[in-house]
Amino acid sequence: MAKTRVGILISGRGSNMASLIKAAEASDYPAEIVTVISNRPAAGGLAVAAKAGIQTVVIDHKDYATRMAFEAKMHQALLDAGVDLICNAGFMRMLTGGFVDRWKNRQLNIHPSLLPSFPGLDTHERALREGVRIHGCTVHFVRLEMDTGPIVAQAAVAVMPGDTPDTLGARVLEAEHRLYPHALRLVASGAVRVSGEDIRFAPPTDTPAALFSPPLRP
Ligand code: GRF
Repeated sequence: MAKTRVGILISGRGSNMASLIKAAEASDYPAEIVTVISNRPAAGGLAVAAKAGIQTVVIDHKDYATRMAFEAKMHQALLDAGVDLICNAGFMRMLTGGFVDRWKNRQLNIHPSLLPSFPGLDTHERALREGVRIHGCTVHFVRLEMDTGPIVAQAAVAVMPGDTPDTLGARVLEAEHRLYPHALRLVASGAVRVSGEDIRFAPPTDTPAALFSPPLRP
């Protein structure tokens, strides 16, 4: 079966991007990374992608008078690269309905919380402030409202006594690096599909549960 052609959108260091690139190096992985697009010329992830031999494109949002003009350029770059599916990986621009609709059910995002808890920024700080004992990360299909959309997979992470936003964030980031390749595999292989606003698991239904949890001790 032909591999799903993936374009990754980044704005920064690209550690999630790197985890997808690494996973896609395996010959039996159902997706290949065909382009990495950054809206920031200084994004650290660009060099990482280039070193892995992947085409990189910079589309600096500051060069465009409107959000729509910026997105039209990005859309064209994705088409030029023959992209089937977009993975947002630390992409920090709000997208308009036009772009989101065009890529509906063909765009994934990773978010550092167990959605629908803590959409938006500063998720680790807010999780600590609320005193949750389980935190984590989510991969979901993109919808217009930020950090919403059908959930493909989640990883749970224990909040430890004495955690700071940094220590908790580092533990969540490790989980993100395992979760995103797993979720992309589910989508690209066809094991997961969207039906309306729901996620359906295609038969066979013994697909590994789309969840990692911390081990519980008595
Ligand atoms: C990650 O925590 C991701 O969940 C969030 O932004 C961060 C990006 O990190 N959307 P990186 O650029 O992938 O290292």
